[in-house]
Amino acid sequence: MKQILKKNMHQLTLDEAKKRLFNGQLVIFPTETVYGIGANANDKDAIKSIYEIKKRPTSNPLICHFANIEDIERNFILKDKDYELAKAFWPGPLTLILEKKKNSKISLLTSNNQKFVGCRIPNNEIALSLLSKLDFPLAAPSANISTRTSITSITDLDSNLKKIFHIDGGSSVLGLESTVIQTTNNGCKILRLGSLTIEEIKNKFFNYIIEIEKSKISPGNQLKHYSPNKPIRINVNYIKKNEALLNFGKNQLISNIKDMNLSVEENLIEASYNFYNYLNILDNSECSGIAVAPIPNSGLGETINDRLKRASYKNE
Ligand code: TXA
Ligand code: MG
Repeated sequence: MKQILKKNMHQLTLDEAKKRLFNGQLVIFPTETVYGIGANANDKDAIKSIYEIKKRPTSNPLICHFANIEDIERNFILKDKDYELAKAFWPGPLTLILEKKKNSKISLLTSNNQKFVGCRIPNNEIALSLLSKLDFPLAAPSANISTRTSITSITDLDSNLKKIFHIDGGSSVLGLESTVIQTTNNGCKILRLGSLTIEEIKNKFFNYIIEIEKSKISPGNQLKHYSPNKPIRINVNYIKKNEALLNFGKNQLISNIKDMNLSVEENLIEASYNFYNYLNILDNSECSGIAVAPIPNSGLGETINDRLKRASYKNE
């Protein structure tokens, strides 16, 4: 009985979300990486309202979310390597930059007037059910104000964004954003590090040459990004008075305000899952700043360190 009730509630929420999206409104929905704010990718005005509410410059393009590869094929040209990566990692935390076909109805505003658009199929039941009810893709950036931390649970949603219709899907299972990738003749280029690690790609495609784009950074790879309100200090070996501590592994570090440990066992999957939520809890504590213990720079640790570097970036 309880199960049926839950299923019906679910249907009602999804129907409401669908109605709103058809009307050009926004919906916040869960994915396996982080929550997204979605709008009809074909509707210029709806897309415009995403940029406005997030205070995001329109020069920073949005990712389009699809329910299946057939819908992507209708809108985009996929090369052999795109298919290889898609087959290996979709649904999942892979965003592929693909060339839009001439007949695609996806608004130019989604991608800053470029014909290359980020696309992904999320691995989340609610997101997939919602997408399969629509006859358009969902353009969806992370559900946060621009330059702030992404959110992995509705409780961490910014108060200004709470007025948007949101679907609570519990905690995001991965916790870090998708990896943004463009394929090349001999492999691929990582435009943004993410939940899909370079090691995972290498394990499947050992002949790929994998580059990490550092010079022409992905438009969203701003130096200052993913940051809490409080100042943040990384790779610390001591904690200042009144600093909160985001710890990792077993050590002697201690805060007089609040400590949270991403993973006592030094498990980077667990650390990724906890990352944004713990950062948010510490940010809301009575601390003067957040000190972060060193995190190994491999696998998901590389992505966490990328986020921390941007979060701690100071405009001189
Ligand atoms: O996991 C995710 O990717 C989440 C969930 C909601 O899917 N979305 C997300 O979107 O993180 P957003 O907008 O916060 O970040 C998208 C990143 C930005 O760094 C953006 O610059 C890059 O992807 N991106 C999007 N379209 C691009 C394009 N056409 N060319 C290069 N980079 C692009
Ligand atoms: Mg974002």
